Formats: sequence, C-alpha cells, structure tokens
Amino acid sequence: MKTRQDNPFKFGTVVEDEYFTDRTEELKIVKSILHSENHLVLISPRRYGKTSLVLKSAKETSRPLLFLNLESVTDKKDFAVTLLKKLLALYPFEKLKFLLKNFRFVPTLSMSALGDSFDISFITKTDDNVILEDVFALMSKISDKENKLIVVFDEFQQVDEIDKNLSKLLRSIMQLQQNINFVMLGSQESMMRTIFEKKKSPFYHFAELLTLKKIPREDFYLYLQNRLSLFEDKYNIADITEKILDFTDCHPYYTQKLAFNIWELLKDEMASDDIVQTAIDYSNEIHDMDYERLWSSFKNTDKKVLKYLSVSRNTQHDYSNIGIPISTVFSSLKRMAQSGILIKENRYEIDDPFFAVWIKKILV
Ligand SMILES: Nc1ncnc2c1ncn2[C@@H]1O[C@H](COP(=O)(O)OP(=O)(O)O)[C@@H](O)[C@H]1O
Ligand SMILES: [Mg+2]
Repeated sequence: MKTRQDNPFKFGTVVEDEYFTDRTEELKIVKSILHSENHLVLISPRRYGKTSLVLKSAKETSRPLLFLNLESVTDKKDFAVTLLKKLLALYPFEKLKFLLKNFRFVPTLSMSALGDSFDISFITKTDDNVILEDVFALMSKISDKENKLIVVFDEFQQVDEIDKNLSKLLRSIMQLQQNINFVMLGSQESMMRTIFEKKKSPFYHFAELLTLKKIPREDFYLYLQNRLSLFEDKYNIADITEKILDFTDCHPYYTQKLAFNIWELLKDEMASDDIVQTAIDYSNEIHDMDYERLWSSFKNTDKKVLKYLSVSRNTQHDYSNIGIPISTVFSSLKRMAQSGILIKENRYEIDDPFFAVWIKKILV
C-alpha cells in the first residue's frame, strides 16, 4: 500500500496511472489507429516512453495484447514458438486446440510442472517459414472481430538481424492478417525509417508513422511541482523544478530519475544551497565506475566528439572545432546515435545528461 511518504517518481520500467503524464495528443492518435484497420509505427530514442504509451493506449481499449520484444528473438522458429506461447497465455486452451488442427505440422505442447505455462517444440522437419505462417494465421483466426488482438513488436528494427529474409516474409504474412492491429516500436530512427519509408522496402507504407518527442516543458513542470509541493514550506520548489528541467531538458526517464533522487534528499531535510546539483553529484558518484567503463570503451574520435558535445552550448554545433575531419565526426555521430549514446532532436546531444556532466568533469 502507498503512504504519503512514498516517492512519487518512477524510472526504468513502464509507467502508468499517476506516474504517467501528458501524451494526450499521442494517446488520441494511437487509439484512433487501434480503432481502425490500420497499423502503427512508433519511433523514439530509448526511454522516451514508447512502451508506456502503447500499453496505456491498449489498456484503454480493454482488448487482448500480445507484446514481444524482437531483441529477445533468436531465429524464425524461436519467433514462432514465442508467439504461440504468448497466444496460449492469452486465449483459452480449448479454443486454441481446435485451431491448431489447421496447422500443416504438429507442435508438441507440454505443460510445465506448475501447470502455469507451456513448452512448445516442433519435432517435424517443417520449413520455418511454414511454421511462422501458420502461427500468424492462428493469431488472426483466434482474434475476435469485436475484440481485436493488438500485437506489439518492440525494437522492430532488429527484424533483419533475426533473419535477413524475415522482413519480406513478415510483410507478406502480415498484410493478409485481418482482425489484428500491429504496432511496431523502434528506437533506431534511421533503421526504422529505412524499413517503413524506403520505396524498395517490403514494409513501405505498411503503417502510420509517429515519432515520440520529449515531454513538453509546461506539462512536466506541473507534474514535478505537484509532487514536490509536499516540501514547499522549507524549499523553493519552483526554483528546484526549473533546475531539474534545465538539466534534463525534459527527457522523460532522466527527469523522473533526478526528481526521484531530489525527493529523497528533501524528505531527509537535506540542507544545501543547490539541492539539484547535490543530487546530480551524488548520482554521479554512484555511477562513476560505470561511466569510467563506458568511457574506456570509446574510440579516440568518439571521445573527442563527446567532449565537444558535453561543453557545446551553441544551438547549432560547430564541428570544425573538434580537430578531426568533418567526415570522421559525422561517422562518429552516426555510430553513437545508433548505439543510443547520442540522440538527435534538432541537433545531436548526449542522451544521458548525467554522463554529459561526468565527461565535463574529466576535462578539468
Ligand atoms: N508519459 C510519461 N510520463 C512520465 N514519465 C514517463 C512517461 N513516459 C515515459 N516516462 C519515463 O521514461 C521511462 C521509460 O519509459 P518507457 O515507456 O519504458 O520508454 P521506452 O519504451 O521508449 O524505452 C519511464 O520509466 C518513466 O520514468
Ligand atoms: Mg520500451
């Protein structure tokens, strides 16, 4: 049970209910797609709130939801097995058993000792494509027109890592699916755009594309202020709130994380001229080893680019100042954006503002 003294900020996992803020427009768009015959692509860097947004939208439709992260899928057969397991958890076994008769191969199902999950294997030498086609067909058949299944594939840009022919196969299967809304989430924007916007790609124009931005400042401001107001007798909450957002630039995850730490300091009646700075320093002390390890994993050119970005205050970066050829800078930026170290909104930024401060510190 929650008490008044529970920390009201949450980071790292999916947020819902009172932890979820704003995204009203986005919720409307996602739900309108779920209430149509269309599919959705949702793109943003990691930890912007894709999963939270989609789960909230799906929950509000009260329809069955199958969520699968493609990063955890190893090959086509594994993909089929995982889907089948998830369907077994979603629908009554009797209903599935009946439909399994339509399969062109015989899966072996065995109940776990506790009786709460199934193990599935395919003993026949059936072609993986056939297995996947049949599982998707089952998914479409079991989905009820009145209560359509929502299928979410997270980290969808991994599709070609699983198997180089998978996207072509998937597209041909998925376009035949009735009764299902597919939602494809992705954290690597350029790869996602290649999949869904290149004319030659099998998924060209398959779905509506939406990109998720950071949370608007006014909204995040109210969210923070509201939750910190418990301490307004002793602290200047307006000032603290502004400083939090200046530091995190409204990044959903880092804002919640910093606010969480600050809430703890305020609760302990910590006295400090600059409580926000204290919280940042404190967090960086804890993560010093992780950042050191991360830092030592970069090439020298990446380090130079990161150093520049950590101190650059310009609205437009001037890459000619870094001291390495511009083309090298750009391949470094691209590489680090792909691995999630950098994000690009109007310009490239270091994703983690705590890490940016850590880098600045090693410069002095
Ligand atoms: N609408 C929101 N309101 C408040 N915080 C949010 C919201 N969406 C995301 N966050 C913060 O970001 C974190 C990551 O959210 P998540 O949905 O897992 O992002 P993603 O799926 O894009 O990686 C959450 O744990 C939470 O701290
Ligand atoms: Mg996610």
